[in-house]
Amino acid sequence: MNWYKGGSWMVLLVAMFGVAACGGDAADTANEAVAQTTDAVDAVADMADDAVDAVADAMQELPEGVTMAMVEEGEAIYGGAGICMTCHAPDGSGVPNLGADLTDDEWTHSDGGYEEIVVSIMEGVTADASTSGVPMPAKGGTSITDDQVRAVAAYVWTLSK
Ligand code: HEC
Repeated sequence: MNWYKGGSWMVLLVAMFGVAACGGDAADTANEAVAQTTDAVDAVADMADDAVDAVADAMQELPEGVTMAMVEEGEAIYGGAGICMTCHAPDGSGVPNLGADLTDDEWTHSDGGYEEIVVSIMEGVTADASTSGVPMPAKGGTSITDDQVRAVAAYVWTLSK
């Protein structure tokens, strides 16, 4: 028998004696610890669920493929390179006999869905189709890129919400 094995038996015996001596208390304490740990794990799981829900809600508010960064970029294009504000007013409420109100939820040239707004801006509105008789040139007559059109459409989409 080597010394190491003998030592292990001693440790085991002492441990068993210890449990036997204070058995009830130790078991209660252990059960309590397990219960508290379970509660804590449940609480963390609830918090994680809430966080996932919040992210899902935030994402549901924007159409598919649209990000907040696009909306912000679109706002700058609306008053900048896209010159949309010259015909639709700085706040998007429209100019009588010129550009339509983009803040109400009434759409003349589409159903107001994001992809349809993209098409309206991409193609513009012919004089015949325009209720004011004034045409909207494609991309407002500017040379903004297709990505910029998608961004400004994202901003326009939020105006009516
Ligand atoms: C030269 C003036 C002019 C410019 C610049 C212009 N628009 Fe327009 N827009 C119009 C007119 C006119 C209409 C049609 C209004 C109507 O039918 O009463 C229109 C219609 C629209 C519609 C369709 C609205 C609906 O009710 O269906 C959208 C969306 C729109 N414009 C967005 C934009 C955006 C975004 C820009 C900037 C990239 C822009 N427009 C630049 C004049 C303009």
